[in-house]
Amino acid sequence: MNQAISSPSLQAPKAIHLKDYLPPAFLVQQVDLCFRLDDHHTRVISRLQLQRNPARKEHDLPLVLQGQQLQLIELKLDGRTLSSSDYELTDEQLTLTGVPDSLVLESEVEIDPLSNTALEGLYQSSGNFCTQCEAEGFRRITFYPDRPDVLARFTTRIEADQSRFPVLLSNGNPIERGELPDGHHFVTWEDPFPKPAYLFALVAGQLHPVKDTYTTLSGRQVALEVWVEKENLHKCDHALRSLKAAMQWDEQTYGREYDLDIYMIVAVNDFNMGAMENKGLNIFNSSCVLADHRSETDMAFHRVESVVAHEYFHNWSGNRVTCRDWFQLSLKEGFTVFRDQQFSADQHSPAVERIQQVAMLRTAQFAEDAGPTAHPVRPESYIEINNFYTLTVYEKGAEVVRMLSELVGRDTFRKGSDLYFERFDGQAVTVEDFVACMAEVSGLDLSQFMRWYSQAGTPQLTAESHYNPTARTFTLTLRQHTPATPGQDLKEPLLIPVKLGLVGPSGQDLPMEVNGELWGQERVVHLKEQEQTWTFHNLDAEPVPSLLRGFSAPVRLLLDRSPEQLAFLMTADSDGFNRWDAGQQLALLAIRELINQQQCGAAMMLNPALIQAYRQLLDAQVTDPAILAEMLQLPSEAYIAEQYDQVDVDAIHLARDYARKTLATALYPAFLKLYQQFAKNQAWSAEAAAVAGRRLKNTCLGWLVATESEEALQLAQRQFEQADNMTDQLAALICLAHAEDTTSGDPALKAFALQWAHDPLVMDSWFSAQVTRPHPDALERVKLLMAHPAFSLKNPNKVRALIGAFVNQNRHNFHRRDGSGYALLADTVIELNRINPQIAARLVIPLTRFRRMDDYRKGLMKNELERIRAEKLSPDLFEVIEKSLA
Ligand code: ARG
Ligand code: ZN
Repeated sequence: MNQAISSPSLQAPKAIHLKDYLPPAFLVQQVDLCFRLDDHHTRVISRLQLQRNPARKEHDLPLVLQGQQLQLIELKLDGRTLSSSDYELTDEQLTLTGVPDSLVLESEVEIDPLSNTALEGLYQSSGNFCTQCEAEGFRRITFYPDRPDVLARFTTRIEADQSRFPVLLSNGNPIERGELPDGHHFVTWEDPFPKPAYLFALVAGQLHPVKDTYTTLSGRQVALEVWVEKENLHKCDHALRSLKAAMQWDEQTYGREYDLDIYMIVAVNDFNMGAMENKGLNIFNSSCVLADHRSETDMAFHRVESVVAHEYFHNWSGNRVTCRDWFQLSLKEGFTVFRDQQFSADQHSPAVERIQQVAMLRTAQFAEDAGPTAHPVRPESYIEINNFYTLTVYEKGAEVVRMLSELVGRDTFRKGSDLYFERFDGQAVTVEDFVACMAEVSGLDLSQFMRWYSQAGTPQLTAESHYNPTARTFTLTLRQHTPATPGQDLKEPLLIPVKLGLVGPSGQDLPMEVNGELWGQERVVHLKEQEQTWTFHNLDAEPVPSLLRGFSAPVRLLLDRSPEQLAFLMTADSDGFNRWDAGQQLALLAIRELINQQQCGAAMMLNPALIQAYRQLLDAQVTDPAILAEMLQLPSEAYIAEQYDQVDVDAIHLARDYARKTLATALYPAFLKLYQQFAKNQAWSAEAAAVAGRRLKNTCLGWLVATESEEALQLAQRQFEQADNMTDQLAALICLAHAEDTTSGDPALKAFALQWAHDPLVMDSWFSAQVTRPHPDALERVKLLMAHPAFSLKNPNKVRALIGAFVNQNRHNFHRRDGSGYALLADTVIELNRINPQIAARLVIPLTRFRRMDDYRKGLMKNELERIRAEKLSPDLFEVIEKSLA
């Protein structure tokens, strides 16, 4: 494809390739920054002490500094003011040739934070200044070698109007503060740890701290501060509690201590992602810090805990040891997600955590792996690195680290991570460096394993088994195949760890014997070839294999299993994850039958095996409400769609809806009994048992309301009115707003908006609740709500809550045959392209997944993509659109 010809964009942005990596020509010893903050005219004065990199001293290389949207005021080399003939300046960089081996470069630039709607670099959010520098935002602040393998010591002086910006924060420790003329003041910060520019942060504004302290393992006192707007001061306890838990967990589990005397978290309302691990000064999307049970759900509490932990863990896996280049992003992100998943598993129920991770991975990440933007965990090229903060780099990257830890064992993994942190402390390294540590401590050859980092696409795992009653043997053949992905036609076999057991007829795990070797009742086999067979001996009856326990590898397991086998595993499998998955597969089987029936014009008839299995779940004594709540979730429409090469969105919606109503009607009394059991004496509590109880209760409420019975609607209405917490209030609101009678939710929606108009995070839920409703008017709602005073295209949370929720969670309405869902998304993306390219490039994704749709919809979707392509596109959107139309 010739991008220059195929796209009307004036200048096609260039791709950057991993194979072209070269060490930096210059290193930075010291950076001294001074910010004179002003809405539209902020001055940034920088003093860089630079030195030629010995690793590249052989050439007389020019000094190249990145800089974007900077107005250069003055430039001095070793104290001498330069004129424009002394350097070359483009939109992207500043080049100086013939400079000495060691030099001081001073620059003064002007930037315009108030006009910065891309939320990258220095910008304002709710009147406060803040920064986002990862990946390449620092170049929008000052001229700099903006790459992660340049580590430098920073001091930062911030000057601002004292009344508007009483609080001035940056990385490290405050070392000086004072008054300035005209009601201004300043604070100077010093960060003793050399760091890449992407970890720089600055915050200035009217913020208030909630403070705490933490004593590290070695007895050092660390000041903990969460900075928020005044009205959010009551929402900080949970973040602080989570932070302390994370600090302690990292000491115990990885032997990692915090290294500065102060750790700050700042909540901002306008933020492109979840949060950012800037050294000593994390900046968070307010949705990932603030939590109060009256206004935030249990799910939000969980998110806050896991994001706080994630950013904290980055202090070692990311900051102390960072990435050599952005291709290595998963080195820090995959490892850190794995660490935060382990943390959550240790804080809560490991099985529930795993179920929720996998449910997300195999819908959303598998879809990414199957789409036009599929890429390996370590990509080989990119146009815009911001497009690679993906589920593949984060979640699949975490799965790859999880497999490593399974392969070498938990204790050896800890030895490997100790070695990694010790050997590379203060350095910028690669995925190979990390894996080499694991190979070294375990003695394993991990060369084949590296393919997990370089091959895109989800491997398919198929299994075939045969029982021989006379020989009393059971043979199991596993096959792997990874489908082609864009730019990668041929795939090599991967090393796939498959954790398995054999379940005997009475439900117990059978001891496994292979070639005279006793394996015990559970084993991780290593599938290395395209096909491998194992023969198990001394089996008196045919076992049911339980494969991929705990989801031991991120693969698509293709198995033909009967409803009987699945129902059996659903209760008998000793692996909690596989019990849940057996239930999911059984439901999937039944829904697929319904889809078939619809497609051949037959009446729908739900497989009684599913009803029976549900009845059994509901009739049993409730031992673990959290697991039961997971077992009672039907597979999502997105996951059902993942099973098809040709996706029939309408049939999927109707089939799932039919299954839901049929089950709900058949089992109404059981759902009601369970609802009532868990609705009793429910004053809010943060205890795990209370959280699980709410989840189960609200799951039951959803099932009850699916029947449309008057009684169920009244239960929902009563719960809505009486709830003392957001989990219960919002669950009831969603039930009402999604009920068949399109108006039954209106009074509650109105009351909710009145009650919560002052709280933007709660209003996000209010937007989402309405646009995810199954009714045909959902799209009109989106349009209506886009004009609501609480909505703004400039706020990413609002965009995600309204348009994002509609296009991702309301599939059949987004895919309306009249194409209006596509047009709405394209219109929005075109507008966002000018406001916030990162958000535009993310939001457009559902439109790029046209390949599995019917020809008619495919045509409509492509037309909208072409319409977007005709605009003058940001590199972010350019890359996504070109890849999807290639
Ligand atoms: N490193 C951050 C995290 O994972 C993500 C920030 C990425 N931001 C961006 N604009 N690409 O916690
Ligand atoms: Zn991260």
